[in-house]
Amino acid sequence: MAFPEAFLEELSARNDIVDVVSGYVRLTKRSGANQFGLCPFHSEKTPSFSVNPERQIFHCFGCGKGGGVIQFIMDIENLSYPDAVGFLARRAGLEVPDDGRDVNRGRRARMLELNREAARYFYRELIAPTGAAGQAYVARRGIVSMVKPFGLGYAPDRWDGLLEAMTAKGYTVPELIDAGLCRARNNGGAYDYFRNRLMFPVIDVRGSVIGFSGRILGDGEPKYLNSPDTLVYSKSKSVFALNLAKKSKSGYILLAEGNIDVVSLHQAGFDSAVASLGTSLTADQARLLARYTSQIVIAYDADAAGQKAAQRAITLLQPLEIGVRVLTIPDAKDPDEFIQTKGAEAFRTLIERSGNQIEYRLSQIENGFDLKTDEGRVGYLKEASRLIASLPSSVDREVYGMRAAERAGVSAEAVRGEVDRARNRFASNAKKQREREASAPLRAAQPQARELRFENVRSAVAEKGLVNLLYRFPERFTDAALSGSDFSSPALGRLYDAMKTRAREGQAVSVAALGESFTQEEMALLADIISRDETTPVAADAAIRDYIRVIQEEKNKAARQEDMNAYAASLKQRKGYGDKHGS
Ligand code: UTP
Ligand code: MN
Repeated sequence: MAFPEAFLEELSARNDIVDVVSGYVRLTKRSGANQFGLCPFHSEKTPSFSVNPERQIFHCFGCGKGGGVIQFIMDIENLSYPDAVGFLARRAGLEVPDDGRDVNRGRRARMLELNREAARYFYRELIAPTGAAGQAYVARRGIVSMVKPFGLGYAPDRWDGLLEAMTAKGYTVPELIDAGLCRARNNGGAYDYFRNRLMFPVIDVRGSVIGFSGRILGDGEPKYLNSPDTLVYSKSKSVFALNLAKKSKSGYILLAEGNIDVVSLHQAGFDSAVASLGTSLTADQARLLARYTSQIVIAYDADAAGQKAAQRAITLLQPLEIGVRVLTIPDAKDPDEFIQTKGAEAFRTLIERSGNQIEYRLSQIENGFDLKTDEGRVGYLKEASRLIASLPSSVDREVYGMRAAERAGVSAEAVRGEVDRARNRFASNAKKQREREASAPLRAAQPQARELRFENVRSAVAEKGLVNLLYRFPERFTDAALSGSDFSSPALGRLYDAMKTRAREGQAVSVAALGESFTQEEMALLADIISRDETTPVAADAAIRDYIRVIQEEKNKAARQEDMNAYAASLKQRKGYGDKHGS
């Protein structure tokens, strides 16, 4: 299905590739026109994933993935082409030209509206005189002034409070059920899902109310009810209070476990507190957080489950190059209790003194061994040395080496020796890796996709150069004589023809416009080509002439070769030669 070209251009213009990619990848390095980060599509330690803002493309020099912004969303969100277009349109607030495809768009908008109305209803119920039970609970938890900023509410102790209010506004029972606000009765009809609970609306970063959590007032089971996943809500992809935390100037995000912790932290002045929604942190939530911060302070519950969840969160956050610190909360079960008993200043001190992740990981390693036994000490030292060896700073290695030595009751020299051995192992592995990479220059000249293999590398290099220049300087190609059929690589030839036609007709030569007519592999090849800067504009004309000359030479060579082959074949026939020679 084709989208109108003007729409695709608008879509690409409104979704700057650097912005979009930054939602998933931290671009940490700049080299020429390109920005680099760790590739989200393959695992790597040094950044080979590049984004070129000027050309609006991404390309990974490691795994070969590449293309425009639509391709990026297809790859990273695992979406089809039309769905990726829809995704970006929503992101930019654009209407997708209506072709009846996105049947859910209207339903989504309507469900968000319903959620917002429901949140208003719960809020009104909390501040109304009839909301005394809710008010008392909010007061008891000391979060009265947070009612408004969080839009907290109260679901009254009735079976049909929300049902009545929403149907009066024109929402249907099936709509209420779909939104997870009501449950169907066996005999038809429905009842409120949330009753006699303190309501926490879940608000996404765009400000839409996407779901709810409801806490029982006091003790009882289940403590929380949560909206089910709906058309607009996915628990594993949402983060509670990120709508508020994203505006914080603190420089970090405080990740807590409980909704109450989050509200209580905000009340105490920690305006960057968020929580994952009743699940342990997921990869999607980690990526979402990475869009808004590069520092996360984990403030999970003090119990073993909380510490285990912290460990898991670290594993998820680390590849995103987020600095992680973990709070250990003394003498309280969670941040809320700590703040209620010791005060906000004490909590701030906890954050300031919070061990960095190295210290935390060292203590985690320690927990795995019994340091009273020789065996335990040896095991601990082995693992701790491996961790310490991975630290880039020699000061850090020294400091933590000494700490580990102390813990294990051995000399600092012993740890140093162990760390040095681990470092040598790392270094020799890295060297082997580099050698493997260096010994494959020809492979490097080839496109990532097998089916696009170049038969004639000399010609293909020139063809790639030409495609690069055509992309960058389309106006210089309006009367180029060369045609794609002169190319040795059919894929490059077709790209060249398509781009030249567009250039000649005065249309934009953009990845967005070409995306629909080429395969993913071909677009990756194009992205690879145009992510390299080989020539300055001044030298471009000379380069174009050179490339064309090489392509023609190689083509003539190939033609001569064919002539020769044909001649040899005809000779063979005439003279009745054997079949050993010739082709
Ligand atoms: P907690 O039991 O720690 O709740 O669960 P809390 O919010 O800190 O409440 P207090 O301090 O005990 O009053 C942590 C989070 O786990 C999810 C909720 O998101 C909760 O905030 N949870 C908990 C559920 O989804 N369902 C439950 O039954 C319990
Ligand atoms: Mn808790």
